[in-house]
Amino acid sequence: MKILNFGSCNVDYVYSLDHIVAAGETEATQRMDTFAGGKGLNQSIAIARAGHAVCHVGCIGDGGEFLLALLKENGVDVSFTERVDVKNGHAIIQVSRTGENSIFLYPGSNEVISREQIDRALAACSKGDIVLLQNEINDPAYIVESAYRAGMTVMLNPSPINERIGHIDLHMVSYLVLNEIEAKEITKCQDAQGALSYFKEAFPKLKVMLTLGHKGCVYQDEHGQQFCPIYKVQTVDTTGAGDTFTGYFVEGIAAGRSMDVILKTASCAAAISVTRKGAAPSIPYMDEVTERIAR
Ligand code: RIB
Repeated sequence: MKILNFGSCNVDYVYSLDHIVAAGETEATQRMDTFAGGKGLNQSIAIARAGHAVCHVGCIGDGGEFLLALLKENGVDVSFTERVDVKNGHAIIQVSRTGENSIFLYPGSNEVISREQIDRALAACSKGDIVLLQNEINDPAYIVESAYRAGMTVMLNPSPINERIGHIDLHMVSYLVLNEIEAKEITKCQDAQGALSYFKEAFPKLKVMLTLGHKGCVYQDEHGQQFCPIYKVQTVDTTGAGDTFTGYFVEGIAAGRSMDVILKTASCAAAISVTRKGAAPSIPYMDEVTERIAR
């Protein structure tokens, strides 16, 4: 089973400071790092490090050459990732003393994926293959509809949440991987159980993977719900933890693992990632994850 991931590739400029700067405030940073990131790239690398082949579909702009090299180094197929003549997308990230973050994005190269590129990538796949996407590239509704019509399994991570997600028909989505903020925004329900009930009622066939931050995560399908607590760790930087979780979740589905194993593995991988700085550099390999679970 192939995994095709349509996603962003960002240069992450990460500023470490005491606390996230509020409006009107100025704070000197303690350090600045440049890392590889972007929800799409992070998730492709997480899938590859979890041990499954993945093809990344996206665009690399000026200044993003090291991102393409990193995807290749991690064994990601980049046959459908194109070089474009605009600035690469980037993220300005503040990371506080407690590891929390605040991000703003310059989309750049992530907003110029052409329909011709999308169609070509989908034409190279077969019925039943997985199409994964986030909401950090242009045309997500077109990707979902085209993949659904081609009989592929659509896995959507609606992150970062914005009005564009409202244009996607969730009846065409098989798996929705999201956090509590995204669930609230989509369902208008204030609590997790309310949101899960909404999804069950409105989209009975939709499989929902809801992460609950420090409260763990819950998976829901037509057979019921399964819960998994978090692995407690010392938080250094939470950037990319959600992407690590999603990548490991997708790998587990593609590999046909039991949901119990998938939830444990994805939760543990995400926990390991928050103990390290940066998004892509913090994603662990499967060996490390299984060794940590065994302990
Ligand atoms: O999810 C983390 C990612 O969000 C960062 O790598 C940053 O690029 C933003 O896209």
